[in-house]
Amino acid sequence: MNADGRTRLNRTPEWTALAKHREQLGEVRLRELFAADPGRGSGYTLQVGDLHIDYSKHLVTDETLRLLRELAAATDVFGLRDAMFRGEKINTTERRAVLHTALRAPRDAVVEVDGENVVPAVHAVLDRMADFAERVRSGAWTGHTGQRIRNVVNIGIGGSDLGPAMAYEVLRSYTDRDLTVRFVSNVDGADLHEALRDLDAAETLFVVASKTFTTIETVTNATSARNWLLRELNTGQEAVARHFVALSTNAEKVADFGIDTANMFEFWDWVGGRYSYDSAIGLSLMIAIGPARFQEMLDGFRLVDEHFRTAPPEANAPLLLGLLGIWYNNFHDAQSHAVLPYSHYLSKFTAYLQQLDMESNGKYVGRDGQEVDWQTGPVVWGTPGTNGQHAYYQLIHQGTKLIPADFIGFAEPVAELDDELKAQHDLLMANFFAQTQALAFGKTPDEVRAEGVPEELVAHRTFKGDHPTTTILARELTPSVLGQLVALYEHKVFVQGAVWNIDSFDQWGVELGKVLAKRVEPALTEGADVPGLDASTRALVAKYRELRGR
Ligand code: F6P
Repeated sequence: MNADGRTRLNRTPEWTALAKHREQLGEVRLRELFAADPGRGSGYTLQVGDLHIDYSKHLVTDETLRLLRELAAATDVFGLRDAMFRGEKINTTERRAVLHTALRAPRDAVVEVDGENVVPAVHAVLDRMADFAERVRSGAWTGHTGQRIRNVVNIGIGGSDLGPAMAYEVLRSYTDRDLTVRFVSNVDGADLHEALRDLDAAETLFVVASKTFTTIETVTNATSARNWLLRELNTGQEAVARHFVALSTNAEKVADFGIDTANMFEFWDWVGGRYSYDSAIGLSLMIAIGPARFQEMLDGFRLVDEHFRTAPPEANAPLLLGLLGIWYNNFHDAQSHAVLPYSHYLSKFTAYLQQLDMESNGKYVGRDGQEVDWQTGPVVWGTPGTNGQHAYYQLIHQGTKLIPADFIGFAEPVAELDDELKAQHDLLMANFFAQTQALAFGKTPDEVRAEGVPEELVAHRTFKGDHPTTTILARELTPSVLGQLVALYEHKVFVQGAVWNIDSFDQWGVELGKVLAKRVEPALTEGADVPGLDASTRALVAKYRELRGR
């Protein structure tokens, strides 16, 4: 029994039924599943907005899917979903509502937190962002010396970096190409150095993004950026107001830093960092693509929110993707999940999803405070597909691990490409389709022999197949499609956290390292004796100081 009175997840009849079903299915063969059901290729698909989702190449039958949906019902995934949309404090360890969905709610929607409708505040900030973004884009907002802003440097880390940096990359062809937009996150001074080395301070706007405004990496980089600006412009603090804006929930700390709170764009504690790039945290992106495109992206998010909120279980894409992940994670012992986009523009998408998924569901303590005794979030990894094919796909095809993967591709190349480069798109997509085919169906020893391969190489050249993949295909990579994709993954992560009975919205696991770093720093800089430092770290610190000649 859970501490909250619920039956332990892995003791529920629904879990036990799935475990039994897994045993009965044994080593299910995709070739056989397709042979038995000629309609599988088109039947095991869903359309959500612009996203065509094909889940036919999964090691599941109708019965598997039915049992998985029963598990979702038993764990009340939809009950928790409704509580989230209603603004209830489902982030129990931080006693907070979880309302990233309110960030894309229409102007006339009502979403209440503690009895107050938050939608007007959301739109007030969006309006201020739009006004500011237009002023920067048009040149009406100038720097301290009266020059037009041509460079935007976003300083933030984690959710205050990965989202906008990813989306900026994805939507590059929609950006104002006359603006240079860079993202600095690492406290390694090299990051800021490389971002600033060729910029003119008079034309540079810093967007300091931090929910808490206490994150040491961001505050340190922002301080160095401010010093650089004042040095370069040879002025005093008065220049800061035209060159620094803040995106935060913490007006007090923003003011302490020296940024005029009139230049602060607000968000709220019910927006988690990794769920925040459609809040004020998206300002750099909005400056780059313009408010209209930003709104299209929000509309894409909303479309999938509505789908998740209203679609029945059989046709609910985030539910389905979440449950498929649970099938492999908990009933096939899969340790990881690959996300493999076939679009150069999605090069940062998987890194973004790593935070979304791993910071949300990398937990071993349940919502009831008890340790779970089932596997929770997988390791999420991947890079754009064609590059991966020549690097690590070998292991996916012929290694000893089961690695479920999502393949994301588009029918149309990006409009900006010239005709010759557009013509390469079919080759890209031929690879996309070929890979999921090879992963699913492999090549039997007989097929290898029939090609005249010498007997001693037959085993080496055999592909067992049965590597499960989801294919997500859309016509074009637009701002709306990006919003749809991100919301799809946000809700998939939600579904899994709900089933595993963990709080997907806190992140206590990052705290210890932060505290220890603060403690260790004086040992590095001053050789201070840090009480309680373990023998290994003490020796490493001594070595570091020796190498630095201290
Ligand atoms: O890594 C922990 C974390 O709190 C993330 O959840 C968050 O996105 C990141 O740090 C940055 O936090 P902030 O926006 O408060 O600077």
